[in-house]
Amino acid sequence: MEKISLGVLVMAAGKGSRMKSELPKVLHNILDKPMLGYLLKTLTEIQAFQDLRAEVAVLVGHGGEQVSEYLKSFPCLTVLRQEEQLGTGHAVQTTRAWWEKFDALLVLNGDLPLLRASTIQSLLSLFQKSHASRCACAILSFIAKNPDGYGRVIRSESASSENIHIVEHKDASPEVREVREVNAGCYLFDVRSLSSVIGKLKNDNAQKEYYLPDVLTLMNAEGMKISALLADENEMRGVNTQSELASVTSAARDAILFDWMEKGVSMLDPNMVWVGSDVKLARGVSLAPLVQIWGNSVVGEDCEIGPNCVLRNARLGARVKLVANVIVEDSDIEDDAKAGPFAYIREKSLLKPKAFAGKFVELKKTTVGAGSKVPHLSYMGDAVLGEDVNIGAGSITCNYDGKQKHPTKIGDRSFVGSDTMMVAPVNLGPDSMTAAGSVITEDVPSGALGIGRARQKNRADWVYRKKANE
Ligand code: UD1
Ligand code: CA
Repeated sequence: MEKISLGVLVMAAGKGSRMKSELPKVLHNILDKPMLGYLLKTLTEIQAFQDLRAEVAVLVGHGGEQVSEYLKSFPCLTVLRQEEQLGTGHAVQTTRAWWEKFDALLVLNGDLPLLRASTIQSLLSLFQKSHASRCACAILSFIAKNPDGYGRVIRSESASSENIHIVEHKDASPEVREVREVNAGCYLFDVRSLSSVIGKLKNDNAQKEYYLPDVLTLMNAEGMKISALLADENEMRGVNTQSELASVTSAARDAILFDWMEKGVSMLDPNMVWVGSDVKLARGVSLAPLVQIWGNSVVGEDCEIGPNCVLRNARLGARVKLVANVIVEDSDIEDDAKAGPFAYIREKSLLKPKAFAGKFVELKKTTVGAGSKVPHLSYMGDAVLGEDVNIGAGSITCNYDGKQKHPTKIGDRSFVGSDTMMVAPVNLGPDSMTAAGSVITEDVPSGALGIGRARQKNRADWVYRKKANE
């Protein structure tokens, strides 16, 4: 295959007025990630791009500060600006100085989150094949169930070849509106051909905009060759309104879940499960209804995630069981550990193998050692629990003095009596115990019992005497 230098321009400068939102359109979330992120991730998966050392630029304009901020997490991108958004044709005109150095230019609408790498790859192959026969432009089209709003692809046979041009919905006659083949917003151009016509665009149309699709009409007039590749509608749906965003979100979710089910993940009801696109699940994982797994979460083999659990940047080893209503954020749970129902595990907490955080338990920045248990109604913050520790019900680390957070250390095999308040900073040595109801303000040496409570007194017959007096 002929090696060409390739520029990729993602157009993301438009306002997205039809979203009726202050947030720039491309930053609207699909599941847990801005829609622009999906397209950019797809671009990194295209093998041909790596072979061609393709350069990617994102054009920002409306809400440019916010979009640029988001783009900082993609180090290899060039950010270009379109100060005034006068249409997609204008977007390509504005960036001419950047793309003129390439042989070919791929232009993509920024609102194509479901587009797959293999489809771009096919467009590239078609272009490279027909490039030898002087193809000036190859576009993706699809047959729309409801073509409203899209540019219609008009194919007209001439004696020698097929002519393809695009008529925008707002400029289309009733007959043209009957056409259901539409422009997807993905164009691959021969740069020299594009350069020769891009300056000639006019904005004498219904929207008073410079339309990129009009380039095709100009190319036709010069006798240049254009190809259109039919793609799948589900993949090519653009997002222009909140309801399109919702339906694309649900399609994205279905695709992600289908993929995981193919790899051996089970779900009682996939209509009631949400998994983000960067999550990794292992074989044998089971997901109950109302489970949400977001961010860079990783769930190991045979984990059971019970109803109503929410995981965000959580890493679970193998065979972890989250009973129900467990929230895990930025924390790790190792093999065979168990949590819930109703546990909140957050801010770099760690449950080591076979550890347990039970009912109404909150862990913050806390390590629970192997085999250790925090079974009921406890708060452990900034604490390190060794192995085989048992924390009695209702025990709390008093880690905050109103200004600063302080650490608590609980040694291996310690037994903390129910309702112990551990006033941090404090250390409980290995094999130590605390008496139930203690307020522990001083370290407990290893093997010692710490008691910090008033001694009980019984007043004999006190109740009977009181009743007799009434
Ligand atoms: C566009 C196409 C239409 C196609 C449809 C597919 C045009 C004129 N029409 O219509 O044929 O069927 O996409 O979804 O291109 N943008 C800029 N700068 C601008 C204007 C737009 O960067 O000045 C960006 C937008 O942020 C967006 C993309 O270009 O990501 C497409 O713009 P949009 O307004 O969504 O175009 P459509 O009307 O959907
Ligand atoms: Ca659009």
